[in-house]
Amino acid sequence: MMYELIDFKIHGNHDGNLVALEKGNGIPFEPKRVYYIWGNHSDVVRGKHAHKKLEQVIICTSGSCDFILDDGNERQTVHLDNPAQGLYIKHNIWREFTNFSKDCVVMVLASEPYDESDYIRNYDDFIKLVA
Ligand code: TYD
Repeated sequence: MMYELIDFKIHGNHDGNLVALEKGNGIPFEPKRVYYIWGNHSDVVRGKHAHKKLEQVIICTSGSCDFILDDGNERQTVHLDNPAQGLYIKHNIWREFTNFSKDCVVMVLASEPYDESDYIRNYDDFIKLVA
């Protein structure tokens, strides 16, 4: 399984909606970092890397975009457009994301602080690692 889609509990009422995330409650790990991405041109391709250890839950909190996931054997595209749903990706998955709507905001909860040495940024290196 390359990824999992997690449906978050929505605390909704007539005022609107609220999602609260914590370990065991929407997030399978203790989040140690949060970052978000917005203002991308529709055809920009971001990501283009895998992680050696990092786990992430990725949420499109506004608008939509496509995640292309690759485990070295196959590629799958996941369309994200629901702030109440998280895309859970473990290590050793190559990811690219693109097809951003103008209003797209992507928020990422990560299991570890930023560490450049955890990145695999070269696709050939990734294929060698997972082969
Ligand atoms: P990068 O991982 O290349 O972005 P993407 O994969 O979304 O295209 O990161 C872009 C820049 O931001 C790069 O200089 C590293 C920096 N960065 C941090 O400093 N901390 C972080 O947590 C992340 C994700 C990136």
